[in-house]
Amino acid sequence: DKGNYRHYMAKEIHEQPEVIGHTLSRYLDLGAKKAKLPDGAAIDFSKLTRLVISACGTAFYAGLIGKYWFERYARLPVEIDIASEFRYRELPVSEGELALFISQSGETADTLASLRYCRQHGLTIGAVVNVPESTIAREADVVFPTIAGPEIGVASTKAFTCQLAVLASLAILAGRQRGHLSDAQEAELVGALAEAPGRAVQALKLEAQIERLAPSLARAKDLLYLGRSTNYPLALEGALKLKELSYIHAEGYAAGELKHGPIALIEENIPVIVIAPHDSIYEKTVSNMQEVAARGGRILLVTDDKGGEASGLGHKDRIVLPEMPEILSPIVYAIPIQLIAYHTAVFMGTDVDQPRNLAKSVTVE
Ligand code: M6R
Repeated sequence: DKGNYRHYMAKEIHEQPEVIGHTLSRYLDLGAKKAKLPDGAAIDFSKLTRLVISACGTAFYAGLIGKYWFERYARLPVEIDIASEFRYRELPVSEGELALFISQSGETADTLASLRYCRQHGLTIGAVVNVPESTIAREADVVFPTIAGPEIGVASTKAFTCQLAVLASLAILAGRQRGHLSDAQEAELVGALAEAPGRAVQALKLEAQIERLAPSLARAKDLLYLGRSTNYPLALEGALKLKELSYIHAEGYAAGELKHGPIALIEENIPVIVIAPHDSIYEKTVSNMQEVAARGGRILLVTDDKGGEASGLGHKDRIVLPEMPEILSPIVYAIPIQLIAYHTAVFMGTDVDQPRNLAKSVTVE
């Protein structure tokens, strides 16, 4: 049931404040200001030597963001790869490592094969899944559920932000267990994460503005998305979403990688979407953005008030979110990124819920 929405995807984008809240309630103890494990999950991060993550598509990008969090907040080294590569590359693994598989459907063939590889090699298996009765959930030792509810649109939206909510919570928990976060630091991060649903509501208010940008984006043949740190995987996610929904070619890049090749593409007909909240890495991203501007590139900056002012660009093409703690930005900035792809595709008249050549669940390799 699409309710009052035109597409399942629109409904699922708008459900995010609620389902992120449901998911966080399983992983955060707001009274104690601590991260917790969901019911039935037992895992000790303190003695782990490494975390190995594998997934496909959007779930893989959630894992990439998780890598930054586990390394930053828990000093836990992370190895991550897309499942179609992971399953055949013969990664040396050893006991004392946790393997984590991320999947909305819990049925993705490559992800399942990667899980079985790690099982054969004696690793503990964790699964971040949205479908609790799925094969991946059943074959895992520990299940970390996302409480996104059924996701019908082929493009993953609410499952992605719920995966991020789970990974951020687990990284905080791991940080405490491994002695890298003080009680005060944990309380601050938990308090920040708890703001996600409210921030998501604010992000959804940008929809009308984003809809107005769609016609000009739809004229492009190519688009670039740039970001750094945790917003680099979000740039990859933005490009994937736009490709699968609107069939416009797009690539995501780490902003710092621009001058190693892709800057040669810059001209006014290739819009560049820069994801840059005013955080610890903002200055670096903005200097990459100015290189684009200097070469006549058309920029759409997704930022906050401070970031907008410090950018040196005009007000024109700017999507402005409220300022928020750094841990929140990939979760909340995912929403305008989804809306850009959604409205561009709607404007172009493609089949948003069922894009050509794609299946919701990829059960063959
Ligand atoms: O069900 P899964 O999370 O394992 O699916 C993984 C990918 O197939 C999926 O995220 C795909 O990339 C989406 N269509 C992206 O919107």
